[in-house]
Amino acid sequence: MTSDDSYRWWQDGIVYQVYARSFADADGDGVGDLAGIASRLDHPAWLGANAVWVTPFFPSPMVDGGYDVADYVGVDPAFGSLRDFDHLVGEAHARGLRVILDLVPNHTSDRHPWFVESRSSPDNPRRDWYIWRDAAADGGPPNNWISEFGGPAWTLDPGTGQFYYHAFASAQPDLNWRNPEVRHAIHDAMRFWLERGVDGFRVDVLWHLVKDEALRDNPANPDYVEGRDPPSRRLLPVYSADQPEVHEVVAEMRAVLDEYDERVLIGEIYLPVDRLVAYYGREGRGAHLPFNFHLILAPWDAREIEAVIDSYEGALPDDAWPNWVLGNHDLPRVASRIGDAQARVAAVLLLSLRGTPTLYYGEELGLRDVHVPDALVQDVRETNQPGRGLGRDPVRSPMPWDSTATGGFTTGVPWLPPGEGNLARSVAAQRDDPGSMLSLYRRLIALRHAERALAVGSYRPVPALGSILAYRRQHAERELLVCLNLAGVAGSLQLPDGFEAGRVLISAAGAAEGTEVRGHLELPGDEALVLEPLAPGGRAARER
Ligand code: NOJ
Repeated sequence: MTSDDSYRWWQDGIVYQVYARSFADADGDGVGDLAGIASRLDHPAWLGANAVWVTPFFPSPMVDGGYDVADYVGVDPAFGSLRDFDHLVGEAHARGLRVILDLVPNHTSDRHPWFVESRSSPDNPRRDWYIWRDAAADGGPPNNWISEFGGPAWTLDPGTGQFYYHAFASAQPDLNWRNPEVRHAIHDAMRFWLERGVDGFRVDVLWHLVKDEALRDNPANPDYVEGRDPPSRRLLPVYSADQPEVHEVVAEMRAVLDEYDERVLIGEIYLPVDRLVAYYGREGRGAHLPFNFHLILAPWDAREIEAVIDSYEGALPDDAWPNWVLGNHDLPRVASRIGDAQARVAAVLLLSLRGTPTLYYGEELGLRDVHVPDALVQDVRETNQPGRGLGRDPVRSPMPWDSTATGGFTTGVPWLPPGEGNLARSVAAQRDDPGSMLSLYRRLIALRHAERALAVGSYRPVPALGSILAYRRQHAERELLVCLNLAGVAGSLQLPDGFEAGRVLISAAGAAEGTEVRGHLELPGDEALVLEPLAPGGRAARER
């Protein structure tokens, strides 16, 4: 990386996640669709995003919201058609937005023709495309693995008398990635979409693809607390995920991407930092961006977040490009986790760290998790384990485009309630308000695009205490200082060398742009600033 020109779009760009069922509904059935997304692309473009990642829209019985794929190379009629898809890609590209698809290769739907064949007989040529085993000696499942959605991860198929493995719902049988035919079939599906112009994939549960060959029992998790932790955490997934052989599978997927120009491979991976970074692959032959969810997983505390950033920065292999995420369709929304004021601080953090930021739709509006009455619950993670608060519907509510009853999302009845509080945070309500969360996001993104120090510059921590987190970002001659207060009470920071005097470029809590600070910075609660240094004469060290 020597000159600016050598950065790829997925390095200095911003990814915007569109949850396909909840972005915009063009046909009035209450569920989002591809034509709806295409009609609303001006929004991510206006915001300054560079790519949209669209969650699954493939033919699916929708047991897991489309993460149960029944055909890898089609469009579910609920979402439209291949023609709608081509239109969407054309509209996105016309606005300079790349399109990233969700690839779900770990499992299919049990209605996928591959599984229908596989389960039809032990001798079927596709039997080995899935993971079939005889019962244990006691007649129970072949091992002790637990489904992420509760209960055993094995289901008995009465027709053939064997069990099949499913890391998620029983309607989502896991493919056998040790079988080369499976690999080739998924590679072909990837090529199908790449040929249609998609710019890359976000690969679902990438670290799950390969399982222990001997299917050994997972050990108990000594830290598990009944009632506090989801049942799936009772065991440590030592043998059911993150196996050494997975890296060969990732390298093969990467090779498929590399048959095309400028495509990106993003991996969904929930692992500690040291194991996560292995997914960059040997000599950079792995994922371009193994998703880094540690800002979501760590407690919202300055020292904890600082430790996350420093350990991640320290663990990245040479040439590996970092990335950061604040939310997605599986986890509570950031504003619900840390409150409205800190969600603004989090926005400054996400958009000033070194590494590609991914925004979850509605984060830019400060959306909160919605209350979903029992009668409207959709998510299999909830219906399989009711009453434990594990459902993900609350974070998947329809995008509020305006503040009318259905938020301008649909002319019909929305599949999930938009949530009154969220309607008040609609795009229309915030767009022209300079103090809104939406305006803050847009200004932060514009600043990141204008300042190479933020987009691609180096990262250097600045010692800070208490609730203050600070770091420098530098590119060529230009260096900026980021100071964030991760609590509601004031804190202070001795401005570091080179920033004895600084000027505010952007503020989370409303300090005026251009405000000058000197020597000792008193940072009010919930404030976050990006500062440029002032030369001794008081002028900006280098005008932008
Ligand atoms: C991860 C996806 O993000 C989640 O929504 C889904 O339920 C599981 N993988 C299974 O595909």
